[in-house]
Amino acid sequence: MSQKQSMDVELGDLLHASSRSALPPAHGSAPPPPRAAAGATSTTTTTTTNRHPPSPPPSAAGYTVHRGAVGAGSFGQVYRATRRADGADVALKRMGYSECEAGGVAAALLRESAVLRLLGGVSGCIELLEVLRDESSPPSGRARRALLVFPFYDFDLATLLRLHASQFEGGHVRSFVHQLASALAYSHSRGVMHRDVKSDNVLVGRDLQLKLADWGQAAIGVGGVAASDGGEAESPPARRSGGATSMWYRAPEILFGSRHYDEKVDVWSMGCVVAELLRTQGRAVSEQRTPGRAVMRGRDVEEQGRIAIGVCGAPAADSPLRALPGCPAPSESGKRRPHAAATVAAQLDVVGVDADAERLLEMCVTLEPCARATAVAVRDSPFCAAAPLLATLPRFR
Ligand SMILES: Nc1ncnc2c1ncn2[C@@H]1O[C@H](COP(=O)(O)OP(=O)(O)O)[C@@H](O)[C@H]1O
Ligand SMILES: [Mg+2]
Repeated sequence: MSQKQSMDVELGDLLHASSRSALPPAHGSAPPPPRAAAGATSTTTTTTTNRHPPSPPPSAAGYTVHRGAVGAGSFGQVYRATRRADGADVALKRMGYSECEAGGVAAALLRESAVLRLLGGVSGCIELLEVLRDESSPPSGRARRALLVFPFYDFDLATLLRLHASQFEGGHVRSFVHQLASALAYSHSRGVMHRDVKSDNVLVGRDLQLKLADWGQAAIGVGGVAASDGGEAESPPARRSGGATSMWYRAPEILFGSRHYDEKVDVWSMGCVVAELLRTQGRAVSEQRTPGRAVMRGRDVEEQGRIAIGVCGAPAADSPLRALPGCPAPSESGKRRPHAAATVAAQLDVVGVDADAERLLEMCVTLEPCARATAVAVRDSPFCAAAPLLATLPRFR
């Protein structure tokens, strides 16, 4: 069977899948604020909105699609829709599926749907309700498109931070970190690494439930189950893509050229999100610097690597990182942190937070993957243990 045929068979399988579970109750009727293009921080791809002229909204039997995309990222636009049968509020993520080259949009669609099936929408991983054909696209040919149907969430974390940073309380931060770490702990336990953890890909409902979304770059085969990026079994160690993860959230081992990294790359990215969350605390809103923006912002991969070293200190002489082709030589790696008081938190301009928060950042934003915490350790950390119940927290207005 050719690669194209095999893709089509798998897509046919996806299109015939039926909804597995009921939707949560519809959210309030207020339309969400428009969201910035989610791919803005990605260096691996440009946004679809940039690449293609505007296309008509999607169309699917049984759904009324609202006008205007609510989000756009690397692989497609996301629209809000109402399921006519029960009024449920859903998001339709539109993705092309005719480009079958490895790493193309079809690969992303198949990977995202397969991974979401495996994860089953539990423990903070977003639930895939069904996959439909976009009836506004031609039934065959290069322009045809599919729709991934998800429950609708009112915010992504980047937007929430940009619009409502002043409303963040310590309890929100603890709860969101706990929920995000729980989602990653669960996916890693199922052998899946996300590989694109960033605040744009974290969704939050009005009830403050958090869902980790956008599994289009995920890789299956973590924790002893070896697999390539495409998810096919092969002998360990698996060789992985160097372009995974938006650059500002990319772990140092990938930046330096490793192709045999593991799920710890997600923990580094989570640390970057934790720093964004913690920056809402400990200083007046007027002094907050650009809420919702990544905390380590290099202009290219080399500079991104040097920033990571500037924050964490240079790798030790016997570190495996030193053997990687892109690891800066000791002379160019920038100064080590000058003294113990210059914590990772201080380096990331996170101030006025308690010792548990500082320790949490040190656990995640650690240069050496083997010294970096697991998602389970983050979830079970003292910082997360003090997360309040969602019902006790104020909602965002
Ligand atoms: N279920 C959803 N509910 C509401 N908004 C969503 C949902 N899924 C995605 N979005 C919005 O669309 C954006 C792009 O979706 P994403 O799945 O990240 O696609 P991409 O792979 O193109 O980045 C997200 O950053 C978010 O703002
Ligand atoms: Mg995204």
